[in-house]
Amino acid sequence: MSSSLFRRKPLTVPDTLPLRRVLSVLDLTAIGIAAVIGAGIFSTIGEAAAAAGSSVTLVFVIGAIVAGLSALSYAEMASSVPLSGSAYTYTYIVFGELLAWIVGWMLVLEYAVGNVAVAISWSGYFQALLNSWGLSIPPYLVRDPLSLWREAQVFIQTQDPAMRPAYEAWVAAPRLLGIPLVMNLPALLITAIVTAIAYIGIKETRLTNNLLVAAKIGAILLVIAVGAFFVDAKRWLDFMPNGFSGMMRGVGAVFFAYIGFDALSTTAEEARNPKRDLPLAMILSLTLCTLLYVAVALVLTGLAPYSELAVADPLAHIFKKLPISTRIQQALMGVVAVSAVVAMASVLLVFQVGQPRIWYAMSRDGLLPPVFGRIHPKYRTPHVSTLLTGLVVAVSLFFSSLHTVVDMTSMGTLMAFAIVSAGVAYLHHKPPPGYAPRFRVPKIPGRWPFLISLGAGLLWAYQLNPNIFRDLWALSKGGAYWKYRVLLLILCIVGYFTVRYNLSLLPILGMLSAVYLIIELGIDNWVRLGVWVAVGFLLYFAYGYWYSALRQGDSRQPANPLSEN
Ligand code: ALA
Repeated sequence: MSSSLFRRKPLTVPDTLPLRRVLSVLDLTAIGIAAVIGAGIFSTIGEAAAAAGSSVTLVFVIGAIVAGLSALSYAEMASSVPLSGSAYTYTYIVFGELLAWIVGWMLVLEYAVGNVAVAISWSGYFQALLNSWGLSIPPYLVRDPLSLWREAQVFIQTQDPAMRPAYEAWVAAPRLLGIPLVMNLPALLITAIVTAIAYIGIKETRLTNNLLVAAKIGAILLVIAVGAFFVDAKRWLDFMPNGFSGMMRGVGAVFFAYIGFDALSTTAEEARNPKRDLPLAMILSLTLCTLLYVAVALVLTGLAPYSELAVADPLAHIFKKLPISTRIQQALMGVVAVSAVVAMASVLLVFQVGQPRIWYAMSRDGLLPPVFGRIHPKYRTPHVSTLLTGLVVAVSLFFSSLHTVVDMTSMGTLMAFAIVSAGVAYLHHKPPPGYAPRFRVPKIPGRWPFLISLGAGLLWAYQLNPNIFRDLWALSKGGAYWKYRVLLLILCIVGYFTVRYNLSLLPILGMLSAVYLIIELGIDNWVRLGVWVAVGFLLYFAYGYWYSALRQGDSRQPANPLSEN
């Protein structure tokens, strides 16, 4: 049993692939930008700026470094593995089947669950846009039934006035056979539209995506250009109004804004020259997004006092403050609202393309039933998986609240980042003979930099709180201390291997920074992730373990899987 659990997938690229190879490096870069710029910059930046003040600019740089470290590892893997499946396929080749399945299962959190989050946010912005035109949708058609029912029950029991609108919406909903018709209609409709585009073809997806990306970059450049005229540089001087911890509170929110550059690696089998173009497009898209984000953060914190930025639509909000005519203000706010809707639609489209391609790869490996790998004879897309993705997102929209799904999306993505980075550290340590990726993460021996930074970090923690080590040891101290205990344990384990084998520094830093952010997401999310992984194990042993192509023996296992490229 153990041999098949850890058996690694050979890197055999079939001679003919059923998908259409049409994506150029520019198309791939646009896919990366499409997936990255979305709810993060239009919405969560507000809270991050309110916590961090002007240092939110630095938070964006930190976010870019964390994402960038993982992006380098993805780029190296993509330049040696020209197959769909992203982190799932990379893990299969480096660490074997069981972990690959778990990563594939985590990617459902990034893509399908991520799309639930983005669809809910999209619906919020779409309503705001309609409201600005004097239109509105009945409240029972913009909510999920589960949370609306819960809030209505709270109102019935406690008469809490904050819950009255929910109660009224629940009562007002029309009934069909006694069942109230409550749903998030805009979210369902946009899910149906992007599913249809992803279904009919990669060329149609490419065209739509390129247009959406051009529109959103144009709108963001406009915000930056107009805002730059009114910036008051004195506002930047109060750089860290809430101290270091205030600054770090913004990191989680900002990280969500960077999620998505890896999505373009799911389209490896549709790229014209995947080994060259995928790494290039990942690095290009991440660099461009970072530049835009830093510029937006500078404008935002230079235009308004940071304490006023904790609103749902900070980019539109800042224009209300400018000394310009109301008509121009409203026109600019309209541009921001439309571009937010456009930006989130493109995130949805790319994730709706990414998820089916991961299932397609898993099905080809026998870890999912063959139906997941079916390719449409005319459109040449994994059409059944595309429909299933749409269905999973649509059904989840009836049960999900935004907050939980955002955190679970970050969890799944960060786990994938950590494992891909660990894979590259392993490949640098033990490269199979002939391993020659087109792009390589610079290999810096990690032993001394790791030891020196660990020493400096511990000294710094001691300076901040001289009792820190005694407190960490006293298990009666709970709360935040658990986070630090877990972090210290992981640092010890990773440190042991890094020092012993002098592992490659950059992938190790990529892995540790992803793990740190996972730890920051808190115990509730770890428990949810634990349950998710447990369900994943059950599914694997119910199906994948028995039907795996490797177990069935229909793939040869070459001595060194990565040496065939
Ligand atoms: N990075 C994407 C967004 O901000 C997920 O919406």
